[in-house]
Formats: sequence, structure tokens, C-alpha cells
Amino acid sequence: MVNKAKVAVLISGGGTNLQAIIDKWLEGELPHVDLNLVVSNKKDAKGIKRAEKANIECIAITEDFEENLLKELEKRNIDIIVLAGFLKILSVDFVNKYHDRIINIHPSLIPSFCGAGYYGLRVHEAVLEKNVQISGATVHFVNEIPDGGTIIMQKAVEVRKDDTALELQKRIMEQAEWEILPMALELVAKNLVEE
Ligand code: GRF
Repeated sequence: MVNKAKVAVLISGGGTNLQAIIDKWLEGELPHVDLNLVVSNKKDAKGIKRAEKANIECIAITEDFEENLLKELEKRNIDIIVLAGFLKILSVDFVNKYHDRIINIHPSLIPSFCGAGYYGLRVHEAVLEKNVQISGATVHFVNEIPDGGTIIMQKAVEVRKDDTALELQKRIMEQAEWEILPMALELVAKNLVEE
């Protein structure tokens, strides 16, 4: 039997990246991943329904977030944390506890259009303002610098002349984020269990 890494996915909203992980996992494409837990910092995040539908345990933590999160992670011996549209900044202490065990998806080609203030549609608006012609997505390890950790995987996506920020966001999700996040997770999990 293959050893698996226990994974928790943190979300704040729609959870389409979570869905991409769930789909690949159900298809058997993440053989080193045990999708153990989904945590939302918002009670009404749409992503919660996605976890429930897939029969994955899901909890909402709305108070004393990090303290309660740590308890839940330690209780289950979680190995890897995935930030999938998770909009809260984790403290340096927390990040150091899970060094090289937290991965994040960012909707641009880091080191462009990343760091403080670059989240959600703002990233794509900035890309369009600059007339940049290639954007994409990046999966990286999380360290104490926002979007500053080691890059694990990237994929480029064309920017079209008449794109709106919403159209560009959608294309980057469909063509890059939903593809590389599950793939990068499997890679990190495989490396960890084979360590
Ligand atoms: C994605 O664009 C992701 O890159 C960013 O936030 C968005 C989340 O979307 N960090 P979803 O909640 O996965 O649908």
C-alpha cells in the first residue's frame, strides 16, 4: 500500500480550487494524498458544501483562528496544509511550525503581481493596466514573506487584448490554477512520504 500524507485544505470562499483537488483525488490521480480535512474561516463559504458533498470532514473556525486551527491539525496529525483561496494571513509562528508543509496558489506568475495587496481581482486588474501579455498561476511554499516562498509549479496563460479582469481571472483558473494546484500537492505529498 502507498503511504499517504494527511492533507488539510483551508478556504475562505467559492472553493473552486478545492473542487479541483477533490475531483483529481476522486479520480485517483493523487495517490499520495489523504484528503482529511477542510477548514473555512467563514461560516457561509460555498466551498463547505463541496467538502460535504465529497464526504470530507469540514469545520468552520470563526474565533481564535490559529489557536483552534492548530488544535484541529494536531489532533489529526495533518502533514500538509493547502491554502486554496484562503484570505487570512497566517502568523510567522504558525508558518514556521509547518515549514515546507504549507502550499499556496497565487493567480499570477510570481515574482510579478504578488505580495501585499495583490489578491483576488486586483491581481488581474494590475496585469491589464500594465498591458502584460502573459500571466498565469504559481503554487509555492508559504514562508514569512507574502507570496515569497519557494516556487513549486507555474503555468503561463495568455492575456487577450480585450480581456476584462473577470475574464482573465476565469481563464487563469481554468487553464492554470485547477491544473497545477492538485499536481503540486501530489508532488509535495509524494516527496514527503518518500522522505
Ligand atoms: C483563486 O484565484 C486563487 O488563486 C486565489 O483566490 C481565488 C480563490 O478561488 N488565491 P476559489 O475559492 O478556489 O474558487
